[in-house]
Amino acid sequence: MKLLAGIDIGGTKCAVSLGALDGEGGIAIIGKTRMPTPSAPEAAIARMIDALEEQLGKLAEGELSAIGISCGGPLDSRRGLVLSPPNLPGWDAVDIVTPFADRFGVPVALQNDANACALAEWKWGAGRGCRNMIFLTFGTGMGAGLILNGALYSGTNDQAGEVGHIRLEPKGPVGYGKAGSFEGFCSGGGIAQLARMMAEERLNEGDPPSFCRTTEELPLLTAELVGRAAERGDPIAIEIYRLSARKLGRALALLVDILNPERIVIGSIYGRQRAIMEPVVLAEMHRESLPLSASACEVMQAGLGEHIGDYASLSVAINHLNEKGGNR
Ligand code: BGC
Ligand code: NA
Repeated sequence: MKLLAGIDIGGTKCAVSLGALDGEGGIAIIGKTRMPTPSAPEAAIARMIDALEEQLGKLAEGELSAIGISCGGPLDSRRGLVLSPPNLPGWDAVDIVTPFADRFGVPVALQNDANACALAEWKWGAGRGCRNMIFLTFGTGMGAGLILNGALYSGTNDQAGEVGHIRLEPKGPVGYGKAGSFEGFCSGGGIAQLARMMAEERLNEGDPPSFCRTTEELPLLTAELVGRAAERGDPIAIEIYRLSARKLGRALALLVDILNPERIVIGSIYGRQRAIMEPVVLAEMHRESLPLSASACEVMQAGLGEHIGDYASLSVAINHLNEKGGNR
């Protein structure tokens, strides 16, 4: 049994997963450990190595072939370094690859999280069969993974697809990047900030929204909470998600005009709020991009659901093996 390991490093949670290849391009996840991300990188790496050892120790058979690591940027995939991502304070030029390579003696590859999700959706999810597809994250941050001409395109130094940091408006929610950027408008953190701004205005006018009745509740606002209010029909919550959807549509229009993809696949929050967001996103994308490009592009929600992070890191391992074998 050919085994791969996937390491998914997020700002709040990490996951270590073990996948078994089935010989037909499919993969079964046979082990998984989740943990809160320890704030010191050395501790995080040690705990993830222990978790993988423990999973491998439980198996009667199988051989580990490669390890894939997925993490938010910026990073240097050639040197295996995590370069101070804003959601991982203290992770400054951390060599994440060497400790795993030393311990397990197999090839280890590091990849941007959105790139990793693009690989996974392309292989097993909503991007199957495409030659040109884009995956857009819409979670804690916003980023893109670009599959172009049948291969992952990561740019000159891993920065391709950093659409979240493009500034749209001079002011606005921040996300993890610039005020008024796509990530500000189209990420969980950004939506919470938008909600805070709007709720504060209403509180001052003495007309608080249903999801925030007092000033004390302002810091507690999350995208999820606003999402539930939107589902209940709260008009301000709906307005927030519609605003976010308009900005997302603009991001899609840019991607469509520049790259002319056949499909754009969007992750997490988009799937949960699709009923509200989809019509707005599509209308904006079509209005803002060239008709020939827009009509060639299908927009879909991610297909791998809650497991996307595991498949993403595992697909980094597979992609690495394929590249090494010259089998692109
Ligand atoms: C980072 C990207 C990452 C995205 C999603 C952004 O803030 O710059 O590298 O892909 O968040 O985590
Ligand atoms: Na990317």
